[in-house]
Amino acid sequence: MDYGCLLFLFCCSLIDMQSISALLVTDISVPEIVDFRDNVTLSCSYDMKGHTLNSVKWYKDRLEFFRYTPLMRPVYLTFPVAGIQVLDGKYFCNESTCRVDLSLLGAKSTGTFKCEVSGDAPHFKLAAREDNMTVAALPQSDPLIESFNSMYRMEEFLSATCSSDYSSLPTKLSWYINGEQPMLGELQPSIDTSIPAHDYILRRQRLQVHFYLQGQRFYQTDNILRLKCVAEIENYPELRREMTLSAALTPFDNLNNLMLKHSISAASAQRSCHLAGTCLISGFFALILLTKCLQRQS
Ligand SMILES: *[C@@H]1O[C@H](CO)[C@@H](O)[C@H](O)[C@H]1NC(C)=O
Ligand SMILES: *[C@@H]1O[C@H](CO)[C@@H](O)[C@H](O)[C@H]1NC(C)=O
Ligand SMILES: *[C@@H]1O[C@H](CO)[C@@H](O)[C@H](O)[C@H]1NC(C)=O
Repeated sequence: MDYGCLLFLFCCSLIDMQSISALLVTDISVPEIVDFRDNVTLSCSYDMKGHTLNSVKWYKDRLEFFRYTPLMRPVYLTFPVAGIQVLDGKYFCNESTCRVDLSLLGAKSTGTFKCEVSGDAPHFKLAAREDNMTVAALPQSDPLIESFNSMYRMEEFLSATCSSDYSSLPTKLSWYINGEQPMLGELQPSIDTSIPAHDYILRRQRLQVHFYLQGQRFYQTDNILRLKCVAEIENYPELRREMTLSAALTPFDNLNNLMLKHSISAASAQRSCHLAGTCLISGFFALILLTKCLQRQS
């Protein structure tokens, strides 16, 4: 080896170290969980630090489905990969970012998606980043509250049912009565129905709540009863959905009822007093009552 050769190697290794530090995938955006009926956008960003971009490749589970090569023709290439379909013309890449839109096909669209960027000759250094996407059948509507009326009387027995929409992920239903969870014994065991569809087993939960309209919970609340049903999917708090219905509560228990009647008749009696000037008569009876009381006491 002569000195020229050594110098060349020395320079090469310097450039090598430079390109290692230069090429970097700074961000990848892959949805964590999506519905199989949706289209999704995958994107990644990279920092070339002045180096030339040779290619950007997208993989699903190590199979390449998309390639961007700005120095070649054609610039964009797509490859068939099971479970996904690159949407025609719905992609865009440049020296700093690469975005591709896909339509999905069902459970087999789930996988690990990788964005791999390569620099120019002579090193073709690679940088890559990957993320997982789960493709599921997600609930399309809020939970449904059934057999709930718009008006109830105090002391009445209430029973209502909540059902979640069909989903391939397990759903948990909960009830809230004026903001509080039901008490022990107010819930029926939940009922699970399942149907096979679109390569998934879709499940729906039904949960019945029943209780008497009595106690503190219902006296504090402006005579409004609010029933809320919440449908949650484990590990995905962003998929929570809920439904709230309200009903007017009217007093009904005997004591209330008597007091109500009494106050109404007292008020109307007073009114007729003023109108007909018959107050004297009531006054007279009151006097008799008073004297009888005093007689009994003495
Ligand atoms: C997905 O994209 C295709 C092509 O652009 C479009 O026809 C279809 O309606 C889209 N689907 C949804 C759910 O947006
Ligand atoms: C690449 O495209 C993105 C999005 O259109 C844009 O914001 C960015 O400035 C572009 N970068 C270069 C280097 O052209
Ligand atoms: C993707 O999922 C696999 C298992 O299915 C796991 O080993 C891996 O760590 C996940 N990758 C990321 C980036 O979350």
